[in-house]
Amino acid sequence: MVTGAAGFIGSHLVQGLLDSGFDVVGIDRRSPGTDTVARLNLHDVASHPRFSWVDGDLRDTDMNVLVRDAACVYHLAAVPGVRSSWSGFERYVAANVVATQLLLSACIQTGVPKVVYASSSSVYGETASPSRETDLTQPISPYGVSKLAGEQLCLAYAKRPGSRLSVTALRYFTVYGPRQRPDMAIGRILAAALTGEQYTIFGDGAQRREFTYVGDVVEATMAAALVEVPAAVTNVGGGSSVAMIDVIGMAQQITGNSVPLTAVPAQAGDVPATSADLTRARLLLDYQPRTDLRTGMTRQAEWLRGLPPDLLRAYASPPTTNEDQKVPACSS
Ligand SMILES: NC(=O)c1ccc[n+]([C@@H]2O[C@H](COP(=O)([O-])OP(=O)(O)OC[C@H]3O[C@@H](n4cnc5c(N)ncnc54)[C@H](O)[C@@H]3O)[C@@H](O)[C@H]2O)c1
Repeated sequence: MVTGAAGFIGSHLVQGLLDSGFDVVGIDRRSPGTDTVARLNLHDVASHPRFSWVDGDLRDTDMNVLVRDAACVYHLAAVPGVRSSWSGFERYVAANVVATQLLLSACIQTGVPKVVYASSSSVYGETASPSRETDLTQPISPYGVSKLAGEQLCLAYAKRPGSRLSVTALRYFTVYGPRQRPDMAIGRILAAALTGEQYTIFGDGAQRREFTYVGDVVEATMAAALVEVPAAVTNVGGGSSVAMIDVIGMAQQITGNSVPLTAVPAQAGDVPATSADLTRARLLLDYQPRTDLRTGMTRQAEWLRGLPPDLLRAYASPPTTNEDQKVPACSS
């Protein structure tokens, strides 16, 4: 079972699981029937004979019925976005904390053996670089706090006396690739290069991010289902940390167009750099990122080029009304 299945990473995970021969149930409150991004994300899997779809919010769904036959629950549903989390925090608490607790409780009650939780590099805050799983977690955004609360809930349920639930929490570092959320930086930079729209750069562009290709994230996430340790946390990164200004330069080389820039001050909640120590991921998941940034960005640019022109323009200047994606963000 995949929660957040209509989302960017969730839809790729559904595809990866189907390709590996699993039966997959996906749930999301964004319905492909009514939501353009959900429809686009699920286009390739919607009619797959081993894929079942549940329309619904995790908080309003009978979770015991939902999860009872699952061999593994991949919990990706969340309200993402660092900058937007400074307002409307109730949405973050409801989706990232309350829904996670309800899901875990149902997993315990119905005997689900495994949960894989999509955590975030945002739990670290401004730690040493590269970040290790043993570093003190000091999130500097409400989003980071909500993801850390979700992660801690997972560990608490796994460690509860008598629990037979094993949980692996994956701290994803900024994920990119085809179908990336329209509020995220790489897609917006590439879409700006392809359309001539302005890209708003926060700060001087020196902020560094460990960008992780979505195909690598899917491999790590599927490998996490096989981890037998009762409660584990591990980073999932792309293998190198790159300055935003260099990402813009790469977008210009890949598309052959310049990226029109508008500079605004750095935003609250944005850390100066993210970088992942991948030692534990190698040991636990046999994980090694395989897609470098140029290759991954080239695939993302190809995907963007294939969109209808009005949708491509929407990716260059994302809507500000989507309740999950109010403010453009360049991190996870
Ligand atoms: N994209 C990144 O760079 C990144 C980095 C670190 C962590 N993460 C985590 O990975 C996960 C997936 O991120 P994404 O970028 O694919 O985001 P996304 O917004 O594309 O997908 C999340 C999906 O969850 C759904 N959802 C939210 N609350 C729900 C609820 N209560 N019930 C049912 N569905 C609900 C949303 O409708 C959305 O489709 C999230 O947990 C996010 O915090 C993402």
